[in-house]
Amino acid sequence: MTKKKKELIVTSALPYANGPLHFGHLLEHIQTDIWVRSQRILGNKVIYLCASDAHGTPIMMKAEEEKTSPEELVSKYMIEHKNTLKNFQVLHDCYYQTHSEENRKYSELIYNRAFENGYIQKKNIKQLFDEEKKLFLADRYVRGTCPKCNAENQYGDNCDACGAKYEATDLINPVSVFSEKTPIIKESEHLFFSLTKLEEEIKTWIDKSSLHENVINKLQEWFKDGLMDWDISRDAPYFGFKIPGFEDKFFYVWLDAPIGYIGTLEKYLKEIGSRDTAETLWGEDSNFEIYHFIGKDILNFHALFWPALLHAANFKKPSNVFVHGFLTLNGNKMSKSKGNFLLADQYTEILESDFLRYYLASKLTNKIDDIDLNLDDLQKKVNTDLVGKFINIASRVQKFLKIKGNKLGNNLEDELVDKCISEAKDIYEDFKDLNYSNACKRIMKLADIANQYVDHNEPWVLAKENVNEKEVIKIASTALNLFRILNICLEPIIPNTAFKIKQYLNIPKDSLENIEIKLTNHEIREFKPLMMRIEDEKIKFLKEASTNG
Ligand code: 2FM
Ligand code: ZN
Repeated sequence: MTKKKKELIVTSALPYANGPLHFGHLLEHIQTDIWVRSQRILGNKVIYLCASDAHGTPIMMKAEEEKTSPEELVSKYMIEHKNTLKNFQVLHDCYYQTHSEENRKYSELIYNRAFENGYIQKKNIKQLFDEEKKLFLADRYVRGTCPKCNAENQYGDNCDACGAKYEATDLINPVSVFSEKTPIIKESEHLFFSLTKLEEEIKTWIDKSSLHENVINKLQEWFKDGLMDWDISRDAPYFGFKIPGFEDKFFYVWLDAPIGYIGTLEKYLKEIGSRDTAETLWGEDSNFEIYHFIGKDILNFHALFWPALLHAANFKKPSNVFVHGFLTLNGNKMSKSKGNFLLADQYTEILESDFLRYYLASKLTNKIDDIDLNLDDLQKKVNTDLVGKFINIASRVQKFLKIKGNKLGNNLEDELVDKCISEAKDIYEDFKDLNYSNACKRIMKLADIANQYVDHNEPWVLAKENVNEKEVIKIASTALNLFRILNICLEPIIPNTAFKIKQYLNIPKDSLENIEIKLTNHEIREFKPLMMRIEDEKIKFLKEASTNG
C-alpha cells in the first residue's frame, strides 16, 4: 500500500521590508527550503510561503528618511528580498507582502471574529508622547535613565546595564529620539486581545502539537510568569491597517504580520487559479498541516499569541513551530557597527549558494542553539566534504568509462549498492526531523565508503592489464551508482549541484522514489568538472567584506 501523501503549508518568518537581507535571514530561509525540498522528495505536497513584513513605525520612519512612501519602500524591498533568496535557491511558491488587500481582508476577518467571540477589550493606557513629532513613542524611540540602577541612555523597556524591565513612563529624564525633547504622558484608548482567557486553549495546543522540548520549556517559563492581555492597537500616525470601527487606530504590526501568512496563501491560490480560498485551506477542518520556521526571538508571537488568535477566530492552529537559534559570525554576534556583518548579496557575488547551504546544513540540528559561521571553516568543509569526498567519487572513475563510450556496465557490487540505498532512505528521516547535521555526517560516511571501495580495488592498476577490463567497468559503474545515491541524499541541500549531476548521469528526473532502480547498461554524458575547490582568495575577499560592514 502506498503511503498517503501529506499536504503542508510551510512558512519562513516574514522579513521586515526596510533593509537588505543579511546572513541571519539566510540561516532560517535555507533551513526552511531544505525541509521543503526534502518533503517534496518524500512525495508530500508543499505550499511554501513568505512575504515582506510591511507595517509599523520603523518602516514609516525609514520611508521618511529615504523621502519615499512606505508603500514604495516595501515594494522595493519585496522585489529585492525575493531575488536575493532566489539566488540562494530558496524558492517560494509565493513571496508577497503584508500591505495587501488579501491581508487586510483576513486581518479584519480575524479581528472581527475575535471581537464577536468576546476576546477584544478596550482599556485606557498612558504612554509617552512626542508633542513635536505628534507621535506616541514605542519603547525603542525613547531613552533615559534606568529607574533601578541609574544607568543613563537606556531604552524604554529594559536596561542594558542591570537587566531591569520597566515601563517607558518609569524612565528618569526620558527623551524622545526624534525631537530630543522631553515627552509628555498622554492617555489613549487601546484594544487588547484577551490572551489570559485563552490560556487553557494554548496549553491544549502545546500538548497536541509536536513542539521540541526546548521550545516547550521556554513556553512554560511564560506561563509561570503569567500571561497578559496583548495590546493590538496603535494610534495614528502609523503605517498599517485601520481597525474596523475606528478612525485613527491601526492594528499593531505583530497582529497582521502572521495573518500575512494567510494573506499570502490567498494570493498564491489566486495566482494558480484555484477555486479554494485561504480560509478553506487554513480552516479548522482542513487536511493541511501548517509549519512555521522562526528564530527564537519571536517565539512568543508564534507559539502564544498566534495559536490563541487562530483559536479565537476559528482557524486551524499550526502543527508545529520550528525554532532555530541565532547566527553568529566568526564567534561573535553579527553587528554592522562592530564590523562583523555580511549581507546576503555580498556572498553570492563571490561564492556558490550550494556552499553556504551545505555549510549551514552541516551545523543545523533541531535544537535552539546558536550557530556560528566561520569562513575558514566553510572553506575547509566544502573542500574536504563536497569536493574531496563526494565529487571525488565521480571524478576519479569517470576516465575508466570514457574509453568505453561513457557507458555503465551490467555488473555491480550489488551488496554495497543495496546497503547504500537503504541508508539513503533512512537519511531522509533526519531531514524530516530537521537533523541536517546528522544527515550530512551520514552522507559523508557513505562517501568515505565509496572512496574506500575504489581505493581498495585499484582500478588504475587493473586498467593497465587489458584482461581486467570487465572488472574495471564494474568498479567504475559501482562507484557511479554510489555517487548517484549520494546525490539523491544531497539534493535538498545542494540543489544546483544535484541538478548538474543528474544531467551528467543522464537521469534528469532521478529521485528517491526510484532510488532502487540501479544504473546499469546506461549511457552517461561527457564528464565536466562538477564543482571547484574554494580558493583562499575568495575567502579573503569575503572576510574583508564582513569587516568593512
Ligand atoms: O522579527 C521579524 O523580523 C518579523 N518581521 C517577523 C514576522 S514573522 C510573521 F509573524 F509575520
Ligand atoms: Zn539599570
